[in-house]
Amino acid sequence: MLCASRSDELVFFVNGRKVIERNVDPEGTLLTFLRKNLRLTGTKYACGRGGCGACTVMVSKHDSVSKKIRHFSVTACLMPICSLYGSAVTTVEGVGSIKTRLHPVQERIAKSHGTQCGFCTPGMVMSMYTLLRNHPQPSEEQLMEALGGNLCRCTGYRPIFESGRTFCMEANSCQQKGTGKCCLDWGENDSSPLGKKNEICTKLFAKEEFQPLDPTQELIFPPELLRMAENPEKQMLTFYGERVTWISPGTLKDLLELKAKHPKAPLVLGNTSLGPGMKSQGHFHPVLLSPARISELSMVTKTSDGLTIGAGCSLAQMQVILAERISELPEEKTQTYRALLKHLRSLAGQQIRNMASLGGHVMSRHCYSDLSPILAVGNSTLNLISAEGTRQIPLNEHFLAGLASADIEPEEILESVHIPHSQKWEFVSAFRQAQCQQNALPHVNAGMRVLFKGGTDSIEDLHIAYGGVGPATISAHRSCQQLLGRRWNELMLDEACRLLLDEVSLPGSAPGGRVEFKRTLVVSFLFKFYLEVLQELKKLDRRYSEISERFLSALEDFPVTIPQGVQTYQSVDPHQPLQDPVGRPIMHLSGLKHATGEAIFCDDIPMVDKELFMALMTSSRAHAKIRSIDVSKALELPGVIDVITAEDIPGINGAENDKLLAVDEVICVGQIICAVVAETDVQAKRATEKIKITYEDLEPVILTIKDAINHNSFLCPEKKLEQGNVEEAFEKVDQIVEGEVHVGGQEHFYMETQRVLVIPKTEDKELDIYVSTQDPAHVQVGFMNNRRIKALDIECFINGGCTLDDSELVTEFLILKLENAYKIRNLRFQGCACMTNLPSNTAFRGFGFPQGALVTESCITAVAAKCGLPPEKIREKNMYKAVDKTIYNQAFNPETLIRCWNECLDKSSFHSRRMQAEEFNKKNYWKKKGIAIIPMKFSVGFAATSYHQAAALVHIYTDGSVLVTHGGSELGQGIHTKMLQVASRELKIPMSYIHICETSTATVPNTIATAASIGADVNGRAVQDACQILLKRLEPIIKKHPEGTWEDWVEAAFEQRISLSATGYFRGYKAFMDWEKGVGDPFPYYVYGAACSEVEIDCLTGAHKKIRTDIIMDACCSLNPAIDIGQIEGSFIQGMGLYTTEELKYSPEGVLYSRSPDEYKIPTITDVPEEFNVSLMPSSYTPLTIYSSKGLGESGMFLGSSVFFAIADAVATVRRERGIAEDFMVQSPATPEWVRMACADRFTEMIPRDDPKTFKPWSIPIA
Ligand SMILES: Cc1cc2nc3c(=O)[nH]c(=O)nc-3n(C[C@H](O)[C@H](O)[C@H](O)COP(=O)(O)OP(=O)(O)OC[C@H]3O[C@@H](n4cnc5c(N)ncnc54)[C@H](O)[C@@H]3O)c2cc1C
Ligand code: FES
Ligand code: FES
Repeated sequence: MLCASRSDELVFFVNGRKVIERNVDPEGTLLTFLRKNLRLTGTKYACGRGGCGACTVMVSKHDSVSKKIRHFSVTACLMPICSLYGSAVTTVEGVGSIKTRLHPVQERIAKSHGTQCGFCTPGMVMSMYTLLRNHPQPSEEQLMEALGGNLCRCTGYRPIFESGRTFCMEANSCQQKGTGKCCLDWGENDSSPLGKKNEICTKLFAKEEFQPLDPTQELIFPPELLRMAENPEKQMLTFYGERVTWISPGTLKDLLELKAKHPKAPLVLGNTSLGPGMKSQGHFHPVLLSPARISELSMVTKTSDGLTIGAGCSLAQMQVILAERISELPEEKTQTYRALLKHLRSLAGQQIRNMASLGGHVMSRHCYSDLSPILAVGNSTLNLISAEGTRQIPLNEHFLAGLASADIEPEEILESVHIPHSQKWEFVSAFRQAQCQQNALPHVNAGMRVLFKGGTDSIEDLHIAYGGVGPATISAHRSCQQLLGRRWNELMLDEACRLLLDEVSLPGSAPGGRVEFKRTLVVSFLFKFYLEVLQELKKLDRRYSEISERFLSALEDFPVTIPQGVQTYQSVDPHQPLQDPVGRPIMHLSGLKHATGEAIFCDDIPMVDKELFMALMTSSRAHAKIRSIDVSKALELPGVIDVITAEDIPGINGAENDKLLAVDEVICVGQIICAVVAETDVQAKRATEKIKITYEDLEPVILTIKDAINHNSFLCPEKKLEQGNVEEAFEKVDQIVEGEVHVGGQEHFYMETQRVLVIPKTEDKELDIYVSTQDPAHVQVGFMNNRRIKALDIECFINGGCTLDDSELVTEFLILKLENAYKIRNLRFQGCACMTNLPSNTAFRGFGFPQGALVTESCITAVAAKCGLPPEKIREKNMYKAVDKTIYNQAFNPETLIRCWNECLDKSSFHSRRMQAEEFNKKNYWKKKGIAIIPMKFSVGFAATSYHQAAALVHIYTDGSVLVTHGGSELGQGIHTKMLQVASRELKIPMSYIHICETSTATVPNTIATAASIGADVNGRAVQDACQILLKRLEPIIKKHPEGTWEDWVEAAFEQRISLSATGYFRGYKAFMDWEKGVGDPFPYYVYGAACSEVEIDCLTGAHKKIRTDIIMDACCSLNPAIDIGQIEGSFIQGMGLYTTEELKYSPEGVLYSRSPDEYKIPTITDVPEEFNVSLMPSSYTPLTIYSSKGLGESGMFLGSSVFFAIADAVATVRRERGIAEDFMVQSPATPEWVRMACADRFTEMIPRDDPKTFKPWSIPIA
């Protein structure tokens, strides 16, 4: 560390106000500064490493090169606070407020129903706001690009995009492009009339009411900063922290001298590589050099032979520079630029591209770098500079591998990168495959360049480089050399594949796993390049061989598409009073507060006096004896108050089999052993690193379901249901199929930070607690040749982890719900929860139904494949047809289920699209379409009456206002909004009179978990009850003065000493299940639905495109169609994630790798189906529930499987065409890896395969 003297002043602006910080800590980020120092908690803290966008803010800077103000979005969690010198920061609070003036972006995202939990909303607002500052009328493509780095776990993105679209130039265009018919006009195009025309609505918000965007109202760039930028001070700025010193030189000369003096000090540009390293990998740099004020690093020079881009240019600026050069030069010269631009579009999200620099990218030399392979094959050179002078080195494999002979010296810095033009007869391409299209690190990428001897197809120069297949970008130099002089034909291709697989060898144990997939991509990319070049050669000279029409589809990558769609619901009765909000698409009660950042989440609660922080120390072993815990070093650290172990707990340390803090033994990696309490969160965290725990490993270590079965390791007794005579039926059937279905686990991936704040009261030991709460299956199916399934025998095992938690309940629900929509006379369902040495698994949306029903639907698909029929035929044949008994003997009427199925077939034009897909598949070999329609019978509620009870407390105040409290938790699902709608209808007063009091056990005790889709239902009944009691008390007064106002009646009641407070209670729906007998009435009612999805897959990469999804859901009389459609869309996208991209990866030692948005991919905005239609089916009633509505919180999740089955359908087509046997082994999620490897071809055949016994894999499948 440098000798500490006085720090310079850090000057910047936040929301128009000047900030002067005299003691800034260089280790701090903008996010912590905003949240802790300025108390601006609208900017949220979620992943903390640039991957989710919740912390997005806008930074404005004067660009010293263009002399313009640049506004760009950044992730505040990676933005070093010291880097902001001379910048203006705008946060969501600076954009607008409900107290003063709402910004149109904030108003529109809330009113378009783009918020649910609201945690992602400020980040979304800031991404859109920044876009509008730069483009007041953006294109839809620009909007997609701006939102690509923001994750949302609730909404499914459609309504967020819709709100942004209202600013777009194309906003008024019809959503059903090119059909000549407006999608809002239901009529002849709509083959299935949903009822009378005027009963159907498609508008969820009134665009006409939105205030217009007025760019003149925005905050201006502070004149003081402008003056500072125009007369830049050249003096060095130094900020001293406790451990780190930040130096920002004003001139290049100073920078070079500093670099010579501190050769080990890194240069901080975007901090998107350094930052995560310091945060998560413990990298520490006592001195940081910031070249932010050195304009020489941002220079761009266009020369006759190429383009030189300053190392300090951001990747977003690089995109603009390349696009400009591409438009200026002939195509033959810009091959490398086009390839770079293609990868820049999908590299990270917009915020990261705005922050990350070209220099930082190249110098980080990440093995997955999307640009290095292209820069390397494009013969780029690095211009280096030091106090000694300048020199050039090639950006080649030696540099990328960090060989000392080809590397930059410690005192040198990278000034710029020179990228030469390409030439005629030269072709450059880039390839990339990631878990999903946007905001995902690539599994494998590649840059390829070939130069032919002019006028021939003879290879003069060839360069191929890969990323993701080794510790650095790898250049296939040897293979390329051997291919020089060869002609561009099939023979060359075969030879090249062989050479490449030999040179780019990847061991079976390679970090990151997916080894065979990566090997396959190495040759698949080459094949794509081969075809691309062949096509280009053909354009230059007609003599070269033609590519068969069927093969052409290999060439196109799936473009990012703009989601379109229609949401339909039944309008309210025209006679319903205007003030009655039930059935209307009312905005989420907290929507505006979410959009302005004024909603207070647990993590936003201001610090209390003497607040202490707790950090947890967890086990690094899956199964071990704790030999010793040494906390002495931790206790010596400043600020540390205590370390708490199990011995310090005065009462009960959790349950016998589920201890709060481990005692003597640990049973999974991540189990809590002890906790450090300190004055700050940083001190507490650092102290955990000083605790020494010694372990003695114990046997057995059980991680997988297979291990658990072998060791007879289960968490609870088996659950079983049986109907008919399965054994006898299997003897009589014509055919039997047997197989396995493996369904991976899913991370909840809450965007909201998990935090608990406990405030002890001085009296009576009271505590105020603020808390943010809330498989394989062995299968046998026997069926007749007439497609009727006679018997189904399913044995399910779930990996419950190390403790019971909800696993028994999940197993029960799984078994109860397995039959889904089908009536199969002879059934046997068995379920076991396996006990393993993994962190305990718990319930997710749908409680096992999305996993179990996938098994059932897979059986249907397997029977279809065996019969050679499309799966929908088997589904139809075996679906419930008439009133019948479920497996647990409950009477069931399938009428609405069948209606949903038929509506979905109609609305999606299923049959004609199935035929079109078949036609497409005949014409295309490398791309295939798949289509699937899935029915759903989803049981709502718990199998016990006591779990359906609910209470509410309603107060009427003398000014007429009403306060409602109920027992449901607002998780973003809109329960509070619905409760106000109920109170408004019951009390016959407008919603504006009614307020909600946050859920608290002090007002409504003994609340039941808000789960099983029943929350609004039961709490609504309790609110209704309370309101009816109150109204009954007011009735005599109202009768006496019918002309009076609500306020008059309330006042009169008070005068007459009538209580204006009432408790409402709902005793619950009758529900029970007798597991001994296997019969019951476990669920109060069902939600029915159907979804049809169509996809297209790329057989060479495993990527897929979602073409269209149509959902029909029976919501009966929706309490709030906007909220219900939001729940359906959000859960559908979540389900789609479960079945396609979300993959938990565990090491062979039981360590979970997939712990951040880098490694665990939930859907992004680009994953929304290109056409996404949702219809609430009208004219259905259920007398049981409040106003005949239905709970829709979870059911949509399973409908996401329609995308899975559409992918499986496309894969099955490939396998049939290639004569590959249909074995019944289903794997979810259908990741690109699974799709690619299932589409076996000559490339999958040529890759080397490892004997599993010869290596230790990087990860193991636990299900
Ligand atoms: C959420 C997220 C998603 C991402 N997704 C992708 C992706 O899809 N594909 C991909 O390829 N990459 C991806 N990245 C990586 C990203 O491209 C790099 O982190 C980024 O380019 C590094 O640039 P930086 O300016 O932030 O570097 P910094 O973190 O500021 O610096 C990185 C290193 O470069 C050195 N350095 C910087 N400039 C110079 C210079 N001029 N001379 C000498 N040394 C220098 C520094 O000393 C430091 O060691 C992602 C990163 C994040 C955080
Ligand atoms: S919290 Fe900053 S990107 Fe996730
Ligand atoms: S509303 Fe987006 S994460 Fe909840």
